[in-house]
Amino acid sequence: MTYNDTFLKACKKVRVDQVPVWYMRQAGRYDPEYRAIKEKYSLLDICRQPELAAEVTMMPVRKLGVDAAILYSDIMNPVASLGIDFDIVKNIGPVIDNPIRSRSDVERLKPIDPEGDLGHVLETIRILDRELTVPLISFAGAPFTIASYLIEGRPSKNYLRTKAMMYGDPQTWHLLMDKLGDMAIAYMRAHIANGAKAVQLFDSWVGALTPADFREYVLPVVTRIFAELRDLPQPKIYFPGVASGELLPELRELDCDVIGLDWRVTLTEGRRRTGGRYAVQGNLDPTVLTAPMPVIERYARQIIDEGIAEPGFVFNLGHGLFPEASLEKLKELTSYIHEYSRKAIAN
Ligand code: CP3
Repeated sequence: MTYNDTFLKACKKVRVDQVPVWYMRQAGRYDPEYRAIKEKYSLLDICRQPELAAEVTMMPVRKLGVDAAILYSDIMNPVASLGIDFDIVKNIGPVIDNPIRSRSDVERLKPIDPEGDLGHVLETIRILDRELTVPLISFAGAPFTIASYLIEGRPSKNYLRTKAMMYGDPQTWHLLMDKLGDMAIAYMRAHIANGAKAVQLFDSWVGALTPADFREYVLPVVTRIFAELRDLPQPKIYFPGVASGELLPELRELDCDVIGLDWRVTLTEGRRRTGGRYAVQGNLDPTVLTAPMPVIERYARQIIDEGIAEPGFVFNLGHGLFPEASLEKLKELTSYIHEYSRKAIAN
């Protein structure tokens, strides 16, 4: 098998013959085989078994024909190495028994030790580096998004406590951002050193901030993360999550290659707002996957036509797949994206 590097090329704005595609949450509950594995093991159990975690990572690559694999893990995994106990609870998400609330809670957080505490993750990456014929994307949670779990103790709608710390004790907030920034840097460096071919920084919930608050409380650490990874040639993706359209103009100066867009802005508008610097990734609303195939294809065509108007486009969803998605439709959509874009690029 030859190595498929269209994803890496598109990230670097190099011309490709067809559009590469992968799906956020592509390893997931829409796949009966995955659900069967989950009957026996929790997400964290799977992550602690590198052979199994590698297998679960490869399943969607084989079944869907996507152009990249994403490491089976969770943004919360490295948090254990900071000294925080957490669990991923079924139908809820990350839950922390002793959330961070004070300056001393933040001061107690240790620097992470990827080779020690997270050796199982690096071993999974090394296995995948040997087995895969598409690039492996690994990832870290961005400081705001991780902080929201550490402070709220569970998924949140309004981020009340998170914002209370941000507005009420900015010094503690910035210390927390710095520590979580160091975590993301050390973690993604270790991933690349062990064979990951690209990294994505997930800032899933940062769209909850105004542009001015984003600029003051979050942008400095996001800027630093990518600046400190500047020496690595591998593509770096920033995903500012859902409802982040108004933040895009703030992202003009990052040392990253790709910006992930949600479906509330078009790719053309996303490119315009980010100053045309980056490749773009996105941005099909995952709920469109509930529609009949011709409707899904109509949405995909619109996205592809805009995507290929400029170099640097990776097809993806605007957010993660739902468990209700259908394996058959995802397979069809993947082939459709390849075939339609191949013809459109050739014309
Ligand atoms: O296939 C992949 O995308 C790779 C694996 C992956 C998981 N989590 C596994 C997982 C990735 C990239 C993540 C990132 C992640 N985790 C994010 C950022 C992406 C996003 O969705 O915005 C966030 C916010 C989390 C935190 C998290 N983990 C939540 C909110 C939940 C519960 C939501 C749900 O769907 O139940 C999780 C659990 C989780 N992480 C699941 C998976 C496959 C679902 C539960 C399971 O299958 O056990």
